[in-house]
Amino acid sequence: MEDLEVLTEHLHLVSEREPRIAERVYERLFKYHPPLRELFGDHAAAVQQDMLNETLVGVVDSLEGMAGLESNLQLLGAKHAEFKVCDEMYGWWTESVVEVLSEASGSDWNERLEHLWRERMNYLCTLMRQGARKTS
Ligand code: HEM
Repeated sequence: MEDLEVLTEHLHLVSEREPRIAERVYERLFKYHPPLRELFGDHAAAVQQDMLNETLVGVVDSLEGMAGLESNLQLLGAKHAEFKVCDEMYGWWTESVVEVLSEASGSDWNERLEHLWRERMNYLCTLMRQGARKTS
């Protein structure tokens, strides 16, 4: 099976098994990094859900080689620098997403999924960090 198919199938499986993915990702993020709670401000819930969706869709788009993805993520990264998101926070985000995906997958989690998710998320985060540096 191609990487794209593996990841798309996995996303279906996880969303059927765990409808509360977003809640769990942020619970984990804020548990290990409490000051991040403030960063998201008052109307956090919708923004948080959008951010997770954008991350998951971005991973799929990157495997599909979507045109314009690099520049979109660089622009998003520049905006994040304005929100005061710094380099190391991207690693925290990746850890939270991968850990919750792995827990929600139970015995269907495997090395290939672990590698694919980490590698793709690192790619997205690298582009966003590049965008942040361009503005500074
Ligand atoms: C792959 C990485 C990421 C992607 C694709 C992403 C995507 C997004 C998107 C699309 C929004 C706008 C949501 C909306 O307004 O509806 C957003 C907002 C936000 N993101 Fe991210 N994000 C990423 C990483 C991070 C990281 C690592 C942090 C910090 C831990 C962060 C903190 C924030 C904050 C604080 C906002 C809300 C800003 C505001 O409206 O005040 N993001 N993100």
